[in-house]
Amino acid sequence: MPKKPPTTSAAAPAAPRSTPRRRAATVSRRPHPDAAVAPLDLPSELLGGLSPEAFMRRHWQRKPLLVRQALPGVQPPLSRAELFALVERDDVESRLIRREGEPGQDAWQLRRGPMPRRALPAATKPGWTVLVQGLNLHVPAAEAMLDRFRFVPQARLDDLMVSWASDGGGVGPHFDSYDVFLIQVHGQRRWRIGRMPDAPLRPGLPLKIIDGFVAEQEWVLDAGDMLYLPPGWAHDGDAVGGDCMTCSVGFRSPGRSELARETLLRLADAVDDEADAVARPPVYRDPGQDATATPGRIPAALHDYAQAALSRALAQPGALAQALGEYLSEPKAQISFDPGRTLPEGCGVRLDPRSCLLYDDRRVYCNGESWRAAGRDARTLQALADARVLDARTVAQASPELRELLTQWVEDGWLLPD
Ligand code: SIN
Ligand code: CO
Repeated sequence: MPKKPPTTSAAAPAAPRSTPRRRAATVSRRPHPDAAVAPLDLPSELLGGLSPEAFMRRHWQRKPLLVRQALPGVQPPLSRAELFALVERDDVESRLIRREGEPGQDAWQLRRGPMPRRALPAATKPGWTVLVQGLNLHVPAAEAMLDRFRFVPQARLDDLMVSWASDGGGVGPHFDSYDVFLIQVHGQRRWRIGRMPDAPLRPGLPLKIIDGFVAEQEWVLDAGDMLYLPPGWAHDGDAVGGDCMTCSVGFRSPGRSELARETLLRLADAVDDEADAVARPPVYRDPGQDATATPGRIPAALHDYAQAALSRALAQPGALAQALGEYLSEPKAQISFDPGRTLPEGCGVRLDPRSCLLYDDRRVYCNGESWRAAGRDARTLQALADARVLDARTVAQASPELRELLTQWVEDGWLLPD
């Protein structure tokens, strides 16, 4: 894990309060800082007339929602040829899935990328699909599509996946453990969904395919239509007529053991052995140990020492919050940045699509590292995290410490001059 640079942003005096400008008609009481997101309390076309607030209350993690023409006139974020070219790249996660034979008896084949473009069957051959994960990291139009869903906390947002399928192509009936918005961007796909919490999986296949899937509802989605599914809903999507492109906005739900492991690892790294070395020695000492006839037994005092070490690590103020923020903002393994830019005077900044910027009350977390932030600098960084962009005026007003940090992030390729 990289060492955190202890950059501290100075607490600056609060900005003078400007006189609120009166507007004749207020569009919403709750505008979202990201201009791509509908006001949180107003009906939104994307969500079929529900406001983001109502959607989160009624559907999120609860029940499916089909929205006809959620994105009318939607354009695919990339062409078929551009998508097929991505399977050759080793910094792009891709999969080719082929189905042969009759439903129920069908044979499934999975190949993971990178692979040569010629490994993909002819577009006219039925029954295959290619899927590319993390399209938002590589294609600005995909990032723009993902931006519309920033009414969900960034820490929950995972990526935008795109699939292309020939006639009848799909990944078969399956569950996902996360929420997903399935957006049809070209052609048609038939989605069949059902609640099958204990459904068995078909043995011996390279994919997790439900055995004996029974659908409760089905719809054919046209370009612009969207289906939201909470975790655990079985679903099966088959391309109808070929040239079918679907974008999936997926979310991450960290597991309990994953969170415990990752935060404990970081807490252990941050434990400061020197701070109270006199009161509590940084190595185990046992001047009271008696001679033992059971040398294989772990001394109870050593167990207590380990327990005290763990409690101490957890009791450090803010330590868990810091470990959590660093973990949640960590880039995925295959992500790398393009360093080397400079931040010209008079410019705004925009987060690189690969950057994850999060915050809590005391710190900001970017790409696995953390900084303490207070006062106006903290508010500016929080605004950058929420809207992923800062205008030139805000950047010009940054304290010298914050300007230095932004310049560093631009040089590292985390932030782009805008
Ligand atoms: C697909 O696009 O074919 C699959 C998406 C999903 O089921 O999550
Ligand atoms: Co799925």
